[in-house]
Amino acid sequence: MDDLIKQAAEDLAAASKVTALTGAGISIESGIPHFRGKGGLWERFDPMEIAHIDALMRDPARVWTILIKEMKEIVDSANPNDGHKGLAKLEEMGKLETVITQNIDGLHQAAGNTDVIEFHGTFAWQRCMDCSQKYETRNVDISEIPPRCSCGGILRPDAVFFGEMIPQDALWRSRQIASDCDLMLVVGTSAVVQPAALMPVVAKESGAKVVEINPERTPLTDEISDYLIMGGASDIMNRIVAELEKIS
Ligand code: APR
Repeated sequence: MDDLIKQAAEDLAAASKVTALTGAGISIESGIPHFRGKGGLWERFDPMEIAHIDALMRDPARVWTILIKEMKEIVDSANPNDGHKGLAKLEEMGKLETVITQNIDGLHQAAGNTDVIEFHGTFAWQRCMDCSQKYETRNVDISEIPPRCSCGGILRPDAVFFGEMIPQDALWRSRQIASDCDLMLVVGTSAVVQPAALMPVVAKESGAKVVEINPERTPLTDEISDYLIMGGASDIMNRIVAELEKIS
């Protein structure tokens, strides 16, 4: 393990264009539930029943009651952990340019990263399903569910539900950045949801090193990643940053 931390620090020091792809695993230590595996949201709920666009259109009040209300309570009070802060520190050190995240919690920006592509949109804003007006989520009154726009329309998160398209600018820029980087850090994603999981493949095919940080193996581990540093994002990021500070 120590060897891999050293290797990652050396690879970061040698790289000239570093990008990160993150998933729900990086926010677990901030109290935000992940989706798959033990304790994940999809163990409690069927995503097709609760996080599919058809479910939202059919019965927004139900989706608000079961999923969005709880998400709002959790996300409103969440703070970045050392995993997010480690990536922000890499940017501060001039090592990391862009974070592509599947997360909608805004914690990379809160930690200080300035170029964050929100691949699955954001929970920071709610959008009217009728007139598209946006409201900051933390200011939305949820004493009545579902909350409504001043036009009377129902509000929904400005995030991507299953069955919806990835925002085209996010997809386009992510592909560009993945094919342009020479090192991609892949932190806390099960790498099973497409097209996000394709970004490390694009990076690898374009000649970049792919370094995974995850307590578990993923479909990328054998095929795409140069190596996997097994562990939680906070601990591993702290150690990589400390090692990088020593050698740079
Ligand atoms: N640090 C880093 N990774 C961790 C940690 C930790 N402390 N704890 C768990 N993990 C890893 C898990 O091993 C798993 O590989 O985080 C990953 C979480 O996987 P998912 O829950 O599937 O999250 P993600 O990959 O972001 O899911 C992608 O699926 O449902 C959709 O839209 C949702 O954006 C989400 C997408």
